[in-house]
Amino acid sequence: MVLVLGGCVRSTKGTVLLVGAVFFVVAFIGLVFNHLDSWGLPASTKPASHRVNVVPGHPITPSTSNAPAPPLSPPFSESTAFQHIAELRQFYLKQLRKPSIRPDDKNYRPWGAFDWTLPENPRWTQRMGESLCIIDLDDRPFNESQQIFGPDVMTWDDARNVHGLSLGILNHWLYAKIHGYKYYYVAIDGYKDRRASWKKPSIMSKILREHDVCLYIDSDAIFHRLDLPLEWLLNYWQLYPESNSLAMAVDPDHEWNKDRFNRLYLNTGFIVAQNNPTTYNIFDAWQRCPDEGEPYPECTQFRLNAPGQPTDQGGFGTFVRYSFSESIRELPCMEANGYPESDEGCKGQFIRHLWTGKKDQIKIDVGEQVPGPFLEMFHEQFKEEMDTFYMTEKTLMRKGPKAATKKRPAENMGKGSAKGRWP
Ligand SMILES: *[C@@H]1O[C@H](CO)[C@@H](O)[C@H](O)[C@H]1NC(C)=O
Repeated sequence: MVLVLGGCVRSTKGTVLLVGAVFFVVAFIGLVFNHLDSWGLPASTKPASHRVNVVPGHPITPSTSNAPAPPLSPPFSESTAFQHIAELRQFYLKQLRKPSIRPDDKNYRPWGAFDWTLPENPRWTQRMGESLCIIDLDDRPFNESQQIFGPDVMTWDDARNVHGLSLGILNHWLYAKIHGYKYYYVAIDGYKDRRASWKKPSIMSKILREHDVCLYIDSDAIFHRLDLPLEWLLNYWQLYPESNSLAMAVDPDHEWNKDRFNRLYLNTGFIVAQNNPTTYNIFDAWQRCPDEGEPYPECTQFRLNAPGQPTDQGGFGTFVRYSFSESIRELPCMEANGYPESDEGCKGQFIRHLWTGKKDQIKIDVGEQVPGPFLEMFHEQFKEEMDTFYMTEKTLMRKGPKAATKKRPAENMGKGSAKGRWP
């Protein structure tokens, strides 16, 4: 230890005092670390059930059965963290990012820095659990390295290769997990004559029948506030099944975002659907929109995307919404579309849509939500639990969503549960 003092040590008495003080400090630090040791790192009595398969840069020390804790434990580090993966996941879900308010709490004040208030008489007063569902659908495999269905675990050690849209998908699954909602991923088939995004109405229609409310969300859109229950947002936007079928956010105010009647498109990258009869009529009209003939003969022009031309969104905005205006709610772009860095007046205060940030800003946003080893920990859990949410379109259409996926275990601890370690 090197001590740099302002002046020289002048007397023997001073030196003795100094040595005494240093000794005391060292002894104190030793005590604190011993204490932390017994508090933070309980000796594992069971082999770790969740092991990280391939984690470049993380030497994984296997947790050993009944081994006494070494007298000098290393400080808590990323590699020791993986020995406590089940507890850390629980800590994240139940403490770090737990739901911060109840569905009908009057105010939402994240970080004490904002203050959003519910309108009078919020009607969603209970947590909805699995009667609320979140849907991802895509026809791309996302199976390369550092992608959501890839062969390895996504890791910030390889941050440049981490795939932006895959983080969006992870965000949706994680948000559902925090709040206990049902999550589905549907691997859809493409169409021969139109863009695959036209599948949204038929897939949503099939899944919604087994739930009360379902949301579809694009892979480049994210739940920006993981702690905020969706029921609260439904109250905030007054989305109730008696008076509303679909809700979507308005697009930014640009000429190219307007339909032929000069009205701004509703962005179909975030859709909230209520289970009521009109919703199925809208889905049916929307699905048939690009077919030849009725109900909207000119909608065929929206089958394929061209520069500046939306597809399912163009058909919905130009035709379908005008047939069902009473039942469709327009959400503020500021709250449910865009992101601050895009500078388009849409800040995505609750739901962010990172249209042009798919490769970078989405990594920053989700990276702040799942920093460090949490990315690996949750991506691995996502892969382990795939049978509870992943289905092909064919299986979904044949069996319905619940029968096509396994029920999620009651508690998300996995095998070798470490239940009870957290108070
Ligand atoms: C990814 O999926 C595609 C389509 O299913 C397949 O052809 C390809 O071999 C897969 N790639 C990897 C790396 O698994």
